[in-house]
Amino acid sequence: MIRLQNLRKNYTVQGKTVPALMGIDLTIEKGEIFGIIGHSGAGKSTLIRCINMLERPTSGHVIVDGVDLTTLDDRKLQEQRRQIGMIFQHFNLLSSATVAENVAFPLKLAKRPKAEIDKKVNELLTLVGLEAHRDKYPSQLSGGQKQRVGIARALASDPKVLLCDEATSALDPQTTNSILALLLDINRKLGLTIVLITHEMHVIRSICDRVGVIDGGVIVEEGKVLDVFLKPQHPTTREFVEQVADSAELREVVAHEKAAGDQTIVRITFLGEKTYQPILFQTMQETGTMFSILQGTISRMKDTPYGQLVVELSGNPEQNSRAIETLRQRGLEVEVM
Ligand SMILES: Nc1ncnc2c1ncn2[C@@H]1O[C@H](COP(=O)(O)OP(=O)(O)OP(=O)(O)O)[C@@H](O)[C@H]1O
Ligand SMILES: [Mg+2]
Repeated sequence: MIRLQNLRKNYTVQGKTVPALMGIDLTIEKGEIFGIIGHSGAGKSTLIRCINMLERPTSGHVIVDGVDLTTLDDRKLQEQRRQIGMIFQHFNLLSSATVAENVAFPLKLAKRPKAEIDKKVNELLTLVGLEAHRDKYPSQLSGGQKQRVGIARALASDPKVLLCDEATSALDPQTTNSILALLLDINRKLGLTIVLITHEMHVIRSICDRVGVIDGGVIVEEGKVLDVFLKPQHPTTREFVEQVADSAELREVVAHEKAAGDQTIVRITFLGEKTYQPILFQTMQETGTMFSILQGTISRMKDTPYGQLVVELSGNPEQNSRAIETLRQRGLEVEVM
């Protein structure tokens, strides 16, 4: 759906060249939710703005649905851009226009007939749950409601792709979750491809299928959210994963236990169905190993439930290694800490 090939972007500041993107290669599949995570200044906004050519890349290619946008003249580009909607951190609504007028705006620009516009606006306001607010002005809305207007407006021209630049960063956690749920709903109902950028791992974990980690203008890691989450390779990725794991607390517990003797401490990861099966208890019983749970979480990555338990094994060394072996045979991920 979207292919970025050796994408580079330099800014010129007071005669000096500032490289923002340094050769990005990325393929985003049709219908997926692709997350891009990175620290401030990593190049996230530059990257997403290159996808709809709000920012002209210095070199490289941006291919959306088979069309290389970098080769188009302004008029053709304008046409192609209708396929790409965008929402922003600060919503970018017209403050002197009502909710309905904001949503109608791109359709008016495209000179669609009034009846068609009215119908479309009604559909979109229903989709985002704002029917009751259609005649209000942005200043009368909450942050979450403003972003819903942003989403409805972005969908007005029936785009195939929706770009989200930190779309939930100005919202509180509960409102963030409701907007993420709406994006997931739209992705499923309309088959829309969504690219979202964020600096919050929580956002990635909630709704993304795949993720790319950007650091210093390059993608340093990329993969399925589940894989990247459970086995982060790059230091930057690990930092982001730690945002959503109580790692500091865990390190303390492990250090404390290690200081008390040479116990075997393992981290066991359960995925999908296995999260709810009594595999751990069964295995410990069979191998005659005693254990105590030091820390545990059950959570969810988009649709996949997963659990992580940090467990101290207090059988003899032979029992412990047999227990670990058996857990692995039964499909659990076991990491000795
Ligand atoms: N218009 C511009 N002119 C000059 N330099 C720019 C411009 N926009 C971005 N940059 C520089 O390019 C780099 C990447 O910026 P970008 O805005 O893409 O980062 P970001 O990951 O979106 O950061 P944030 O999380 O703070 O929004 C930074 O070093 C930034 O200073
Ligand atoms: Mg940015």
